[in-house]
Amino acid sequence: MSPGDRHIAAGSWYSSMPATFPMILGADVVGRVEQVGEGSERFSVGDEVFGQLLIPPLGSTGTYAEYVAAPEGSPLARIPAGVDPAVAAAVPTTGMTGLGIVESLEPLSGKSVLIVGAGGGVGSFATQFAVEAGARVIANVRAANEERMRSYSVTEIVDHTAAPLPEQVERAHPDGIDVLVDLASDPKGVRGTRGAGAHGWNGAHDALRREH
Ligand SMILES: NC(=O)c1ccc[n+]([C@@H]2O[C@H](COP(=O)([O-])OP(=O)(O)OC[C@H]3O[C@@H](n4cnc5c(N)ncnc54)[C@H](OP(=O)(O)O)[C@@H]3O)[C@@H](O)[C@H]2O)c1
Repeated sequence: MSPGDRHIAAGSWYSSMPATFPMILGADVVGRVEQVGEGSERFSVGDEVFGQLLIPPLGSTGTYAEYVAAPEGSPLARIPAGVDPAVAAAVPTTGMTGLGIVESLEPLSGKSVLIVGAGGGVGSFATQFAVEAGARVIANVRAANEERMRSYSVTEIVDHTAAPLPEQVERAHPDGIDVLVDLASDPKGVRGTRGAGAHGWNGAHDALRREH
C-alpha cells in the first residue's frame, strides 16, 4: 500500500480522473497471466508480470483483487529472472516516480541535491537514480536508515530528528544547495524555512519543488 492509495481512497483524485463504483483500490500489481484476449500477442498465459494499473475510470483495474483485467498496452512487463515478486511489487509507482523526478531535474552531474524523505518508497529510488546521474546527494533520513543510504553512495546524511533540518543544511551549506527534492512536505520543516539567499536552499526549493 502506498500514500497514493490512501489519497485515492480519500477521494482526492476524483477531480483529475473519472471513477467507477464500487471502486477497487490498488495500482501496483504483480501476478501471473491467466488468460489473454483474442489476437493479443504481447503476453502469454503463465507469464509473471508486474506494473502499474492506474487506468481510467479509476477503480476499474484496482489491484487489491485476486484477478484483474487490463488492456494489453498497460504499463506491464515480465518480472526479470531472479527478482522476487514481492520486490517487483514494490517497484512500479515508487520507481517510476523516483525516475521521473530525477529525469526532470537532469543534468545533475556535480550538483548538490537534498532529498527530504530519502528513505521512503519514492526517495529510495530517487536517491539511487540521482547518485547514478552524478549528483552529490544529501539524504534526509532517520539514523536507522543511515547504513542503507551509505550503500547507495550518498555524499551526506542529515537526520531531521537530531536537530531541525533547515538549520543543519544551512550550517553545512552556507552558500546553498543546487536542488531540493521534497517528498515529505512537512510545513514546519523545509517549507517553513526562511530564504537563504538567491542560491540558498529555499530558493532551490521554490524553483524546483515538484508536486508528485
Ligand atoms: N504523483 C505521484 O505519482 C506520486 C507517486 C508516489 C508518491 N507520491 C507522493 O510522494 C510522497 C512520498 O511517497 P512515498 O511513497 O515515498 O512515501 P513513504 O514511503 O511513506 O515515504 C515518506 C518518507 O518521508 C519521511 N518523512 C515523513 N515526515 C517527514 C518529515 N517531517 N521530515 C523528513 N522526512 C519525513 C518518512 O520517514 P519516516 O518513515 O522515517 O518518518 C519516509 O521515509 C507522498 O506524498 C506521495 O503521496 C506521488
